[in-house]
Amino acid sequence: MNTVVKPITQNADIRYLGKLLGDVIRAYGGNEIFQRIEYIRASSVDRHRGIADATALTRGLEALTLDDTLAFVRGFMLFSMLANLAEDRQGRLNESGNDIASALQQLAAQGISREQAGELLDHALIVPVLTAHPTEVMRKSMIDHRNHIAELMRQRDLGRQETPEGDGVEAAILRQIALLWQTRPLRRERLYVADEVEIALTYLRDVFLPVLPGLYARWERALAHRPKSFLRLGSWIGGDRDGNPNVTADSLRLALGRASQSVIENYLDHLHALGQELSLSTELASASEAVLKLAQDSGDTNAGRADEPYRRAVIAVYARLAATYTKLTGHTPPRPASSTGEPYEDADALRADLVAIALSLREGGAGLLATGGALGRLIRAVETFGFHLATLDLRQNSDVHARVVGDLFKVAGVAPDYLALDEAQRVELLRKELASERLLASPFASYAEETRSELAIVRAAAQAHEMYGAAAITTYIISKCESVSDMLEVNVLLKEAGLYRLGDPGAAGIMVVPLFETIGDLERAANIMRAWLSLPEIRQAADRRGYQEVMVGYSDSNKDGGYLTSVWSLNRATRELAAAFAETKTAMQIFHGRGGAVGRGGGSSFAAIRAQPAGTVQGRIRITEQGEVIAAKYGTREGAALNLESIASATLLSSCKQPVAAAQESGRFAQAMDQISAAAFKSYRGLVYETDGFKTFFRQMTPLLEIAELKIGSRPASRTKSDRIEDLRAIPWVFSWAQARVMLPGWYGVGHALKSFPDQALLREMAQGWPFFRATLDNLEMVLAKSDMAIAQRYATLVQDQSLATRIFDQIRAAWTETHDCLLAITRQSRLLEKNTVLDESIRLRLPYIEPLNLLQVELLKRHRAGETDARVREGIQLSINAVATALRNSG
Ligand code: PGA
Repeated sequence: MNTVVKPITQNADIRYLGKLLGDVIRAYGGNEIFQRIEYIRASSVDRHRGIADATALTRGLEALTLDDTLAFVRGFMLFSMLANLAEDRQGRLNESGNDIASALQQLAAQGISREQAGELLDHALIVPVLTAHPTEVMRKSMIDHRNHIAELMRQRDLGRQETPEGDGVEAAILRQIALLWQTRPLRRERLYVADEVEIALTYLRDVFLPVLPGLYARWERALAHRPKSFLRLGSWIGGDRDGNPNVTADSLRLALGRASQSVIENYLDHLHALGQELSLSTELASASEAVLKLAQDSGDTNAGRADEPYRRAVIAVYARLAATYTKLTGHTPPRPASSTGEPYEDADALRADLVAIALSLREGGAGLLATGGALGRLIRAVETFGFHLATLDLRQNSDVHARVVGDLFKVAGVAPDYLALDEAQRVELLRKELASERLLASPFASYAEETRSELAIVRAAAQAHEMYGAAAITTYIISKCESVSDMLEVNVLLKEAGLYRLGDPGAAGIMVVPLFETIGDLERAANIMRAWLSLPEIRQAADRRGYQEVMVGYSDSNKDGGYLTSVWSLNRATRELAAAFAETKTAMQIFHGRGGAVGRGGGSSFAAIRAQPAGTVQGRIRITEQGEVIAAKYGTREGAALNLESIASATLLSSCKQPVAAAQESGRFAQAMDQISAAAFKSYRGLVYETDGFKTFFRQMTPLLEIAELKIGSRPASRTKSDRIEDLRAIPWVFSWAQARVMLPGWYGVGHALKSFPDQALLREMAQGWPFFRATLDNLEMVLAKSDMAIAQRYATLVQDQSLATRIFDQIRAAWTETHDCLLAITRQSRLLEKNTVLDESIRLRLPYIEPLNLLQVELLKRHRAGETDARVREGIQLSINAVATALRNSG
């Protein structure tokens, strides 16, 4: 067989997959529709190459019937999906330099030894946290087909003609594309929390669970040391209740129960395989006392295995784990145990048995069997995933906590009107309450529905600790946290379920974590944490735990203050927090709440972690992974391995960042940024919050309302009925600007601020020598390259009052040009992405596909808003939203 590996070239892949897609459209849709789509494609490509004007494109689009339109949009969406696939294959090559081995080399050059790096990782904690933020427009079935194609393309790279199952590789790819063409891309039914739990589980169980133990084995080799399990998994799905009334105590139980069931089933499978593998006979190998004891406990009477203590020991472990499974799930495992055993009290006890087997193998001179291998990976898996698979966070809004605590205080006769108290009075009362052993809630009193529901959550959390161990839930995030009382309130609720005990801070099983997300809250963050850590009981609990986490929000700070002010406030806040934590000698862990789009903190995780201010990573970081980013990064095991390794190596490098960068951040550069950020803030707020008619302009110009109808998440699109921009969730805000190709949250205000800065030479110096500023400009540049003011202008025609539209749109367009020109001057380029050829090629390739989709979307929106009731119009809008999001690679 020919085993020459062909180099992956994105363009060749796109041409190949595009041709197969064309074959499928012709075969299933007919030649006529194929010709129409092809005509539009060719005219759009010519137009973007500058060899034709828009006449042919417009003619092609106008000739489409409604049925043709739907087929056309699907065709372009699938093309974009396949282009993304090709790009991800290419991206893997780019990402492959970001591994731990390369990080170790870089550190060695800075004088940091492999041993020191290993020690750092022993105290590290790196957690990607999956959330259900509604920005994934693709149905899971579509993503699965796409992943099969990716796998088949890998076989093709190896020069294989046949799949391991005996199908022709090309025929198999064609078949998958045909399945894609005939799969309905839009969800008809709404998504429930239970669906979100299952979707997340496919990643946790089918990707992370098999991938991580193998990665650790590789890292062990690179470090020549077995690090602790520093990279773990987190999830919000089933625990995040902020603005989602569909998440209840039942959701929490469901999410934890399904995760636990999956992880233990996986261990049982591996144990079964291990039993087959460990066929060592006492005639040829020795076994420790511990293994002999386990073998005896197995109760196995099979004479054929009498001299095989390892197999018998594994049978004993299997029996105990099967009993654990039954205890936790209420079911017998799919492969029942052949003997009986007591359930394990926790995952550590299971690990101890596995380690005993490994030690015996090593002592017996069979060291090769004990290090790594299937047993080594299983031990690593148990350490990393426990009986819970991923740590599930709780999250709720501070307003809810205040109301619930107010209700509890009132009913218990502690305070008649808690909400009327000022901050100092609240803190005093809450601390007094926390110091008392007595509980507030009575089973005989009646409470508001909200109070009952929140109490049910903390009680379910306490039960989860009992069942799956304390690692199942470690953190309670408070959205819109503005004060110390916002945090103490949650401790009061936790205390009701025994999750906060004053006399025994070690039993404070769940850590309260503030989420700071407006510009003002970020400015106050360090002082709030200073006050928090100055409370002796809190300090004591943090000391026992070893650290305190703080979460910072990228999306809402952006919506509040614009792109530049958001990124700078986050940078500043994390540095100020690091200083505040250093004063109290408490280790800090930052949790970065970011989405995929630049307006929500998106961009490469590697670059983002590397660009964190010196002293703010300290080996500890949590980072959200949401929506479309999850499938893009973790859709396949190969991609997941690269992305996880790249997060780990970025964290390692950032933790060792030299203080020279800190000098930049507090010196001239920082002063310049303070000034630029203030100007950008003023300009952004001036447009978004202070311009008459802006709200109407935004709602009519973009497909905001139509996005809210997409069935892509269980949570409602907005927290309240108000139409204020302050109350709109960040996702639909960013999502709708992206569809209209304005991408305003990613750039507005920047041009004005940069242009009015007096020292342009300093800006160029910053762009050259300051990773933070460079990363900020890189993301800005990407956003500008994806935006298009000519297309945006078409969307402006959707605004009813055209004089309003002209007034505001002209201002936006002028600001865009200003930003564009300033960026080129600072980065010394003659056009956008001149120096980033990979991204340039990727975006250029897509633009001819996006424009026709945008043009059709505007027409369909006009018809829909004029009252046309044909269901195909609405479907066309929704499909076009999916298609544009797919082509742009980011939704909201
Ligand atoms: P949130 O998330 O609205 O759930 O706080 C903000 C975002 O990630 O956009």
